[in-house]
Amino acid sequence: MSTKAANTVAPMCDYPINDQAPTSNQDVTRWVERIARLCGPDRIHWVDGSQEENDALFKMMVARGHCIKLNEEKRPNSYLFRSDPRDVARVESRTFICSVSRDDAGPTNNWMAPEEMKTKINAIAKGCMKGRTMYVIPFSMGPIGSPISKIGVEITDSPYVVVNMRIMTRVSGKIWEVLGDSRDYVRCVHSVGKPIHTPEDDVPWPCDPANTYITHFPEEKTILSIGSGYGGNALLGKKCFALRIASTIARDEEWLAEHMLILGVKNPAGEKTYVTAAFPSACGKTNFAMLIPPKELKDEGWEVSCIGDDIAWIKPGPDGKLRAINPEAGFFGVAPGTSAGTNPMAMESCSKDTIFTNVALTDDGDVWWEGIDGETPAHLIDWKGNEWTPETKDANGKPVLAAHPNSRFTAPARNCPIMDPEWENPAGVEVGAMVFGGRRMTTIPLVFQSFNWQHGVYLGATVGSEQTAAAEGKVGSMRRDPFAMLPFCGYHMGDYFRHWLKMGKTVNEPPRIFHVNWFRKTEEGKWLWPGFGENARVLKWIVQRVNGGAHASETALGWMPRYEDLDWSGLEFSREDWDELMKIDNETLLVQTLGHEELFLKLWDHMPKELLWQRDLLISRY
Ligand code: OXD
Ligand code: MN
Repeated sequence: MSTKAANTVAPMCDYPINDQAPTSNQDVTRWVERIARLCGPDRIHWVDGSQEENDALFKMMVARGHCIKLNEEKRPNSYLFRSDPRDVARVESRTFICSVSRDDAGPTNNWMAPEEMKTKINAIAKGCMKGRTMYVIPFSMGPIGSPISKIGVEITDSPYVVVNMRIMTRVSGKIWEVLGDSRDYVRCVHSVGKPIHTPEDDVPWPCDPANTYITHFPEEKTILSIGSGYGGNALLGKKCFALRIASTIARDEEWLAEHMLILGVKNPAGEKTYVTAAFPSACGKTNFAMLIPPKELKDEGWEVSCIGDDIAWIKPGPDGKLRAINPEAGFFGVAPGTSAGTNPMAMESCSKDTIFTNVALTDDGDVWWEGIDGETPAHLIDWKGNEWTPETKDANGKPVLAAHPNSRFTAPARNCPIMDPEWENPAGVEVGAMVFGGRRMTTIPLVFQSFNWQHGVYLGATVGSEQTAAAEGKVGSMRRDPFAMLPFCGYHMGDYFRHWLKMGKTVNEPPRIFHVNWFRKTEEGKWLWPGFGENARVLKWIVQRVNGGAHASETALGWMPRYEDLDWSGLEFSREDWDELMKIDNETLLVQTLGHEELFLKLWDHMPKELLWQRDLLISRY
């Protein structure tokens, strides 16, 4: 027997409350005990994922002033949290890959030797949970029990993390049965830092920016995160496990752990093609994943369904073709800019059972953010908890945003009306196409298809985007973000490229690869492409290409649709605008291609030569 009834286990540690482990897995119980002795919480709570437990946690957080219950009529079962203003995004400068060899982490990751990092973190973590409860959360990334899924256990002293993890992953006492006595689980330890010594230390959003570290130990499948409560730093199933640690597991086991959405496209004949897409953070992955085609395409019989909006685990199936699952169970979406116009399905998803972080509060107890539908209210409480009116200005006379630009909703995927019927299929869905893209104001056309897998890998490797607010850094500056994985790859990027090239050779019929750019502007700064639902026109062409049903012309960049290859029904879009949107300017592209050098040189000693040849072939075509 791998599990025991909760009340039959001998008391652990010196903790009087909830000291019975619901598992007899000694690897787990010893580890939990070790962390408890280091961090010194007042009590331990083994999370079971039940509704009663969840309700009790929210009740406790509301009573302590850590969150606000929203108006039950307008936003049922939903809550608002406000973070410490210093803790609003991922902290890449404090994120480390602590592989045994520095070379394995590569030059694009921060690295520290594992023992050195553990010594550093142990010193900060000593007693850090004093005054708090330590929660032990068993969770599955992917459907519980699926051969593609993986188990994690997160220890945290943040009840905010517990309730978010319950939406974003599958949290359940059943995990202990599935795990049995196995040691094959990812160990995740999180603390917000600074302990509670006095009642005054019990602040709504504890954090410790000066001592924040988000660290990964790939050889030990362990994550240690301290000092931040922000989702990307604290919900360890997401970026830390499902991308950084999983990418190293995927390298070793020959699959792909990717920063990709997954969607399904049904054609009028009822045939489904699944598409994955990688765009850097805050480039509209959630909007694309939940896209509603324009009426005319819907009337023709085209339908889009959602499997996931952020992460894909992609493995060769029994037939050797790539199959994808969404390891998550919810959406951690950027709120500003989300509206019934831009993403009605996201609005539905967060209409109930949702946790909001750093959005504004309306006078009638609902949420508000810049870009949401309707009139701007005359009065709000802003994300910092201050009174706000549309006239509110900061000390420099600049208008104050009511919601933080990286404010988020944590919403269950089951709330999204267009979830694909296969979204929880343990076997995953077959991937027909993979799409890469970034936020590029100039130079890069709306869409093109790679000539082959290797060329597609080159497109992924050279994704560039103008920086957004999802991570710290200067908004607007251009950064190369290969495969949208630069902040999320747990090993050397050059080896990661090589792994992708290898996968193309080992799978049967690799998916077709495309590149898109919704963000091109005219010289006067006007958007050239309407975006949002109209992107379904591009998706239709992509799916037709995959199934051998659409024309494309050969260009230096790849296969491109002509004006007449896209379905324009219901949209007035002139041939002249199309020509500007799709324009290829060899001179500018040449300069950009030489810009790829910067990253390639950085990765030089691990750079697969196939990509250097791809670059030379590209230059030779200009
Ligand atoms: C995210 C991100 O939160 O990519 O998904 O930053
Ligand atoms: Mn993301």
